Amino acid sequence: MQVVKPGKLLINNEWCEAESGKRFSVTNPATEQKLTDVAEGDAADVNRAVKAARRAFESGPWKTMSARERGRIINRIAILLDKHKEEFAELETLNNGKPISETRNADLPLSIETFEYYAGLADKIHGDTIPVSGNFFNYTLREPAGVVGQIIPWNFPLLMAAWKLGPALATGCTVVLKPAEQTPLTALKLGEIAIEAGLPAGVLNIIPGYGPTAGAAIATHPDVDKVAFTGSTEVGKIVMQLAGANLKRVSLELGGKAPNIVFADSDIEAAVNGAMRGIFFNQGEVCCAGSRLFLEEKIHDEFLSKLKTRVEKMIVGNPLDPKTQMGAQVSEEQFKKILGYIDQGKKEGATVLTGGAPAQPKGYFVKPTILEGVNNNMTVAREEIFGPVVCAIAFKNHDDLCRQANDTVYGLSAGIWTRDIGKAHRLAKEIKAGTIWINCYNCFDAASPFGGFKQSGFGRELGKYALELYTQVKSVWVSLD
Ligand code: NAI
Ligand code: MG
Repeated sequence: MQVVKPGKLLINNEWCEAESGKRFSVTNPATEQKLTDVAEGDAADVNRAVKAARRAFESGPWKTMSARERGRIINRIAILLDKHKEEFAELETLNNGKPISETRNADLPLSIETFEYYAGLADKIHGDTIPVSGNFFNYTLREPAGVVGQIIPWNFPLLMAAWKLGPALATGCTVVLKPAEQTPLTALKLGEIAIEAGLPAGVLNIIPGYGPTAGAAIATHPDVDKVAFTGSTEVGKIVMQLAGANLKRVSLELGGKAPNIVFADSDIEAAVNGAMRGIFFNQGEVCCAGSRLFLEEKIHDEFLSKLKTRVEKMIVGNPLDPKTQMGAQVSEEQFKKILGYIDQGKKEGATVLTGGAPAQPKGYFVKPTILEGVNNNMTVAREEIFGPVVCAIAFKNHDDLCRQANDTVYGLSAGIWTRDIGKAHRLAKEIKAGTIWINCYNCFDAASPFGGFKQSGFGRELGKYALELYTQVKSVWVSLD
């Protein structure tokens, strides 16, 4: 196994300590042991990083190089990530607690593909010519947003860095990235690769640190033009307020409470697989997790008994074991929060069909849990648990289902299981959410947009849509007289 190195800040392609000299510990949530420590950036360091990013944006090779050359550098990041994918997968698993089978088969390939996709897109970003009235030639330029602050969470540390950096670099922005305090290690390793790939100094600066210090400094900084945030809805609201100080542009990818809907006419075996994938992937620490499992009354009992059998066979434990299907929750805080929600569910009348307790004496492992008899007004159905806890809710008919599915402040995603394609497409239009999966769940591709309705946020990441987040349009008028 690799040695886990202590981490520093990355400013202007140089690794340095925080000005305060402070460092913080990073823990392996599967063992509760310290993995290493990392320099703790705060406002002073963010300030240095923003200065470097501003310089790199306004002058220097990043500004003058062709878009195709930018694309080549981004592609080299993809190639180097691929070359080192096993080290990245292992480091992510050690730091986050997720199973190595998932880091190998989801986090790494999706991160690599994101850089590949935006490498290819870099030289295909352009404006339009517009047939205006009068004797004028009018055209638009699509210019980079400028210095971008990116604040990312701990559930997919490398992948969220890739989603943020791919489009920002492709458009010619420069970046100050703040990884989550729980999981800074793969983002820092990505910084090493970016330098090796030839990213000029100041284009990518990485400041590990805490939210209220480093994160808030990014959101408030007057010389940051745009902030992109992924995390809790609660902090999303704070970031938006802080960003108001200089009216910087904001995009937010926040929480969810997705309905995963199973009709009686679905392929039940496939739907059971989909329910499992929907809630137990990444220990349920997924913003689009299928956490409200809506079951048509006719199949409710049969479905839950099949699901229970499958859940009780899941292999939960050592995240580094390739056979493991579910690893540890990211932190003690998250572990306690999840167990607290299970208790709250019981108090409000739900029954634990299986799970409902820690899975191991050591490490932050929670048993995969099914709560039965949940109604949509209970706390467990309204708030994001962000753990391996699925809430089963029975429904009678289409109208009853639709009302309940949309009765949430969130709107990130939904799953629909039925063999009736007309019904599936009608419902896809009726559900207020940014992603709809029909007879599948948790499918991702760098080309397909992802983002929220309602309090799940705004702005779309991935695909061509993400270019909107990182560019601004300029209209140029030329007199032809
Ligand atoms: P969080 O929203 O506090 O953390 C996400 C990021 O925001 C981290 O980088 C953090 O350092 C930063 N941050 C925190 N406070 C900030 C502030 N005042 N200003 C600027 N940046 C700040 O999430 P947390 O506390 O780790 O988890 C709490 C809950 O949030 C979870 O239980 C889950 O329900 C939800 N969550 C949702 C995620 C998603 O993908 N939508 C990801 C992580 C958490
Ligand atoms: Mg927080």
